[in-house]
Amino acid sequence: MRLNFTLNGIAETIDTPSGQLLSDIISILDRNPESSGAYIGTAGCREGKCGRCLVIIDGEVRHSCLVPGFSIRGRKIITYEGFKTSDECSVILNGFESAGYSPCRLCLPGRVLLTKALLDKYTMPTDDQIAEGFAAVQCHCSGFLPFYEGVKTAARIRRSR
Ligand code: FES
Ligand code: FES
Repeated sequence: MRLNFTLNGIAETIDTPSGQLLSDIISILDRNPESSGAYIGTAGCREGKCGRCLVIIDGEVRHSCLVPGFSIRGRKIITYEGFKTSDECSVILNGFESAGYSPCRLCLPGRVLLTKALLDKYTMPTDDQIAEGFAAVQCHCSGFLPFYEGVKTAARIRRSR
């Protein structure tokens, strides 16, 4: 199956067996020596629970381990590796830091992408709106309140710019 799509702003074409998932496709691209590194490469649950494989597809946060490869034709995909050097990412990381919110390195990419998608949708998300996004990651060890505060602080910094 031949697929054309955009990954972190770069047009990609790949031939993959049908039935492959987006997380597999991104891993294959990462193994290409010419790849600029699209994916954090962390093994996760592959069941849509841990949130370590989150990506943004056309503005929507999705678990790449649940996205069928054929469905990404023509779509725009952003991974944390592609997002982390942007000013937008710095604002979110500043917000997290100022609020004292620090998830582990495995959870950070997903939380940052969730926050980006939330702030693109809502200027100042409510607790319910943040909770909706939070449901995409299983780990609760860094707590709900610090995450809510981190998102709201990032929203305030973003609005003040
Ligand atoms: S690897 Fe996709 S949610 Fe865990
Ligand atoms: S496992 Fe990452 S913050 Fe809990």
